Amino acid sequence: MVFIDACFRKKTPYTPIWMMRQAGRYLPQYMEVRNKAGDFLTLCKNPAMAAEVTLQPVEILDVDAAILFSDILVIPLEMGMDLRFEKGEGPVFSNPVRTMEDLERLYDYPEERLTYVYETIKIVRKKLPKEKALIGFSGAPWTLATYMVEGRGSKTYATIKKLIYTDPAFMHALMVKVTEAIKAYLVKQIESGVNAVQIFDSWASALEKEKYFEFGWDYLVDIAQFLKERYPHIPVILFPKGIAGYLDDIYGKFDVFGVDWSTPIDLAKAKLGEKYVLQGNMEPTRLYSKEATKEGVEKIIEIMGAKPGHIFNLGHGMFPDLPVENAKYLVELVHDLTRR
Ligand code: CP3
Repeated sequence: MVFIDACFRKKTPYTPIWMMRQAGRYLPQYMEVRNKAGDFLTLCKNPAMAAEVTLQPVEILDVDAAILFSDILVIPLEMGMDLRFEKGEGPVFSNPVRTMEDLERLYDYPEERLTYVYETIKIVRKKLPKEKALIGFSGAPWTLATYMVEGRGSKTYATIKKLIYTDPAFMHALMVKVTEAIKAYLVKQIESGVNAVQIFDSWASALEKEKYFEFGWDYLVDIAQFLKERYPHIPVILFPKGIAGYLDDIYGKFDVFGVDWSTPIDLAKAKLGEKYVLQGNMEPTRLYSKEATKEGVEKIIEIMGAKPGHIFNLGHGMFPDLPVENAKYLVELVHDLTRR
């Protein structure tokens, strides 16, 4: 698989590409299945339908990898938290976790209840062309904790940050519980057939450096190291968003570092490019314009070269109203400009 070879810095015929949030509302075919399911969570829990939307971007865009269709929040959901997706607001938990008693009420083994995810993986891997990879994923402990404590998306992360400074023992207990659940969940995804895993630390930039390493990165690389010891052939991709200023301190055993759009890729290359394969990082908003897309692609390829060490991706997720045609154009352009 071109994508897997690229994760291990092997020679490939071109630079592979996939896009974060490549399955979603910008695809009319996705909207059709989602409307049939009724709502997003029902879609996630229906393996046949979730498999269908996982495969759509591979068929429509010819990306080199499919990413499992699910959500990072299924772990807290299956720990017993009550999750709703509200129009215009995104995810909401009506019973946030803020005390030791709240934490003790959570179920310790959500991976046992996530069987619909493993079923989806098995269906996708059966239907996906052999040369295309299937990426499994999870949220990072820190990013999951922000939703579990705040109860919803947040601009300030005031509640969870206050707990970091006022009750670090509780915060570490929460992080340990979430970290163990993620390990068990990713093991089950791998055993079900995913070819690589990505862990999304979307809200890494909410913490000052010292606290990010203590409550975010240290737990994240603990998961990566746990997986690499058991599954050396499965690439592990880490995506901590918005931490350009912390690159000097990045450490750990994993394969691919996901570069977000706010981190200049030349900086990431200088600091991390020898140690890790880099994935990224075109600003997703460029996809509204073909010219802006071409300019973005050329700039990144000029820096990373048409050679091993780079996987093309966006620097964060796609938007729901992006023109599909431009996404197709991006995939073709990256393949054409990097063919060797
Ligand atoms: O195509 C893919 O990338 C695979 C599927 C995927 C989804 N969510 C589907 C989804 C993945 C990998 C995610 C990860 C995810 N979910 C993250 C980390 C990545 C990132 O974007 O930083 C986060 C923070 C979440 C939490 C989440 N889920 C939010 C904030 C929202 C609401 C925002 C929105 O776009 O409506 C979701 C819902 C969600 N997850 C949708 C999809 C396709 C939209 C649901 C719909 O309306 O159909």
